[in-house]
Parts: sequence; structure tokens; C-alpha cells
Amino acid sequence: MFYKIHKYLEKKSFPLLLGIIGVVSVGGLVEIAPLFYIDSTIEEVEGMRPYTPLELAGRNIYIREGCYVCHSQMVRPLRDEVERYGHYSLAAESMYDRPFQWGSKRTGPDLARVGGKYSDEWHKTHLIDPRSVVPESIMPPYKFLAEAELEYDDIARHLAVNATLGVPYTDEMIASAKSDVTTQLDEFADDYDGFVARYPNAVIRDFDGDADKVTEMDALIAYLQMLGTLVDFNEFEADLDENLR
Ligand code: HEC
Repeated sequence: MFYKIHKYLEKKSFPLLLGIIGVVSVGGLVEIAPLFYIDSTIEEVEGMRPYTPLELAGRNIYIREGCYVCHSQMVRPLRDEVERYGHYSLAAESMYDRPFQWGSKRTGPDLARVGGKYSDEWHKTHLIDPRSVVPESIMPPYKFLAEAELEYDDIARHLAVNATLGVPYTDEMIASAKSDVTTQLDEFADDYDGFVARYPNAVIRDFDGDADKVTEMDALIAYLQMLGTLVDFNEFEADLDENLR
């Protein structure tokens, strides 16, 4: 009987079209409908927290300067990438990224796990003049970042916008956003404990070695130094090998 239906459909284009629409709709429903009934498509991972105000400001500079044109932030589950950069990226690691920084266009190396790989001093020297530390580098210099004072009067609004998009910034975080920028740059700041409670595992220090000014360099290095450092990968390392191609 199916043979006959098949034979008929193959010859009549309109019934064939209806048949295709029917089959594709069922497939589509099965794939898409469940997504409306689950809260999140991302598996939560311990350690993930929203960016600190300073890191968020650094991320804005990263996007403003187009660093993403040459750098991706996505380690793919391929053996060569994992051996070079570390554990492949988890969806949860970019769950607070708007917009995300994935990609495969790499003129420079992937930066998803660059946090902690170099000292702040290295980053500063490298950003001011890449060829002074990596002679063959083709990365452009960003010397002005060390001079440019960070504009962060409106940083609370950046947090608030992210909150409306679903990033779990609390009212307290938004209210203290501006002072948190300077708190993160000073180990002896009054609100040190409050800051650490709001943003566990945040690195607190003066990133550009110039304590008098809050520069765009401070913000960008704070951001680079936290990339890929929030999730503790020791518990995932066990099944790393069997997930690789
Ligand atoms: C024209 C392409 C290009 C642009 C734009 C660019 N980079 Fe690079 N970047 C490179 C290349 C190539 C390297 C590798 C050589 C080196 O270390 O300088 C690199 C290396 C790096 C490294 C070291 C990575 C590692 O693991 O060794 C960091 C960090 C970095 N870039 C940050 C940035 C930031 C931040 C920006 C934006 C302000 C930026 N880059 C813009 C090309 C670029």
C-alpha cells in the first residue's frame, strides 16, 4: 500500500509538496516544542557568575576595539584545540555574554582560556606594543588604552540593561556598580568583603600598575584575566578524552 502512495506522490508535485510540509512540521514540532517548556537550554555550571562592573567595562572596550575580528572565544572539542588552549568551552561559560564572542576566525589565538596565562604586566606591555614581547606578532598596538581614563559614570545602566536581558544582576549589584569599579582595583578598599560576596573569584588588584587613574587598560586587563577562570575543570577532566574527536 505504501508503495502505491509513494508512486502516486512521486508523480504529483502538489500532493508531494503537502506531504513534505506534513513530514517537516512533525519533525519541527518534535524538535522545537519542548524548548518552550523548559526554563533554560543551558546546563548550569558551578562557578559561573555575571561579570564584575570593571570586567564588563573591559568587555565593552574589547568589543569597541574589534578584538573579536582576530580573536575567538570558543575552544572547540577537537584534540588539537584542547591541547593548545585547554578544556573545550561549555555553553554555560558564555551564558552571560551579550553578544557572545564565539567564532572560528582566528588571526590571533583563541582567548577563551587566556585568564591567568600571563601577568598583568605582560598584557600591558603586549597591548602597548605587541612586537616588544612577541617579535613576529601582527597584532596592532593599543597604546592609548594606558592613557585613556575609563568612563564609568553610567556603568550601573550597563548592568541594568544586562539584567533586563536575564543576567542575574541584583539591585544591590546595580546600586554599587560604580563604587565596585574602584573597589576591584584596590585590595584595601572599604567594601572588599561586600565585593567578594557579590562576585566570588573576582581578581582584585590594580591591573595597569598605575594606582592614580582608572584607565581603559585596567578594565581590559581585568576582563582578559578572568576569561575561562570561573569554572573548575578538574571535575570535568575525567571524561574529557572520550568527548574529543
Ligand atoms: C589584526 C588582528 C588582531 C587584532 C585586531 C587583535 N589581535 Fe590580539 N593577537 C593577534 C595575533 C596575531 C596574536 C599572536 C601574536 C601575539 O601574541 O602578539 C595576538 C595575541 C593576543 C593575545 C595573547 C594570546 C595568547 O594566548 O598568547 C592577547 C591576550 C590578545 N591578542 C588580546 C587582544 C586584544 C585585547 C585585542 C583588542 C584590543 C586584540 N588582541 C586585537 C592579532 C590581533
